Amino acid sequence: MEPTPSVSVSEAVDPAGLEDRYGVRNYDPLSVVISRGAGSWVEDVDGRRYFDALSAYSALNFGHRHPRLVAAAHEQLDRLTLTSRAFRNDRIGEFCRALAEACSMDRVLPMNTGAEAVETAIKAARKWGYEDKGVAPGRAKIIVCGGNFHGRTTTIVSFSDDPSARNSFGPFTPGFETVPFGDLAALEAALGDPDAVAFLVEPVQGEAGVIIPPAGYLAGARELCTEADVLMIADEIQSGLGRTGRTFACEHEEVAPDLMLLGKALGGGIVPTSAVVGSDRVLGLFQPGQHGSTFGGNPLACAIAVEVLELLADGSLQRNATELGGRMRGSLEAAAHPAVTEIRQIGLWIGVDIAGEVATARAACERLLAIGVLAKETQERTIRFAPPLTSTVAELDWVLERVNGVLAEL
Ligand SMILES: Cc1ncc(COP(=O)(O)O)c(C=O)c1O
Repeated sequence: MEPTPSVSVSEAVDPAGLEDRYGVRNYDPLSVVISRGAGSWVEDVDGRRYFDALSAYSALNFGHRHPRLVAAAHEQLDRLTLTSRAFRNDRIGEFCRALAEACSMDRVLPMNTGAEAVETAIKAARKWGYEDKGVAPGRAKIIVCGGNFHGRTTTIVSFSDDPSARNSFGPFTPGFETVPFGDLAALEAALGDPDAVAFLVEPVQGEAGVIIPPAGYLAGARELCTEADVLMIADEIQSGLGRTGRTFACEHEEVAPDLMLLGKALGGGIVPTSAVVGSDRVLGLFQPGQHGSTFGGNPLACAIAVEVLELLADGSLQRNATELGGRMRGSLEAAAHPAVTEIRQIGLWIGVDIAGEVATARAACERLLAIGVLAKETQERTIRFAPPLTSTVAELDWVLERVNGVLAEL
């Protein structure tokens, strides 16, 4: 007997329908089905072109299919893609050195997704707390910030304050204390606990809406952590690798964290690649068998990441981010849209808040979509813009004309 076809003809030609029917609805994407991308632009299945002003939440800092990244990937695809860490591969050492040097740190622990890097840092900090600082077993505490977003694992959502990220997912992992983001006095009080081993912070909170802390916050936090003998962990998964106009957002305040977390753009928008970078004092504590990942440090990811770091080496993309971001902010501010209540910008990363009584950020993003600009709301009120760092002034002006048009009409 012939098996019953599981996909109808109409579903087979409708990718969105297929996704809704067979995928899990854990996202609420805008209504566009993308099938091609090059540089700052994508094309949908009907051949319509859009400017990608989100860059996959900064994973596409270098745009879609950057020729140098694609070439590095092809070259490696034709040679070797995966060994696991049971054997050595000839690319991992080069990658670790390049990233350690870019961060001015000692060692690199490669993983795959951002959440895995965060989990790894939590384990590293606890291990350091017990084996070096002398915290009693099972008592280590990590201080985190209100409004944080560090990923989706059960431990990470344990210290989220977003109900939709947490509800129905308990029981939660203990050992975290939340302080308000940007509040040094609250941090100082929390650091008074002798069981505190780490302060985990996004230098700029991306998912919360491009929230930039008050000047001096990161430097002050660094000082307080040093005084309290507590590790400072900077989650640069979204803010790092050029997005804010510096290679790392911590550089804006000349802060050297103890551990730095990278992901997203590290894989060049081609493969998931993340890493924890840090001092020998902390990462040197790991012994064989205590942590790992089948795909972490795979040669394909390493080859791409080395090229990513090369792309950032001369600082020109960081300068472009500063220039284009300033231009975008200037244009939006000059237009003085009544519907806009606040604009926050650092490098090529801009949060635009829409007055709740006028429209939702989602509605604004839908209007932008209709005229060829892809952006996404974060929270109810904020449109987040994060165009590729490789964008040109002419491209940005094209985008601004449309964004200003939509904001003016709200
Ligand atoms: C600051 C930060 N940390 C961690 C993550 C989690 O990364 P991933 O989605 O790759 O697990 C994200 C993702 O948005 C992030 O913005």
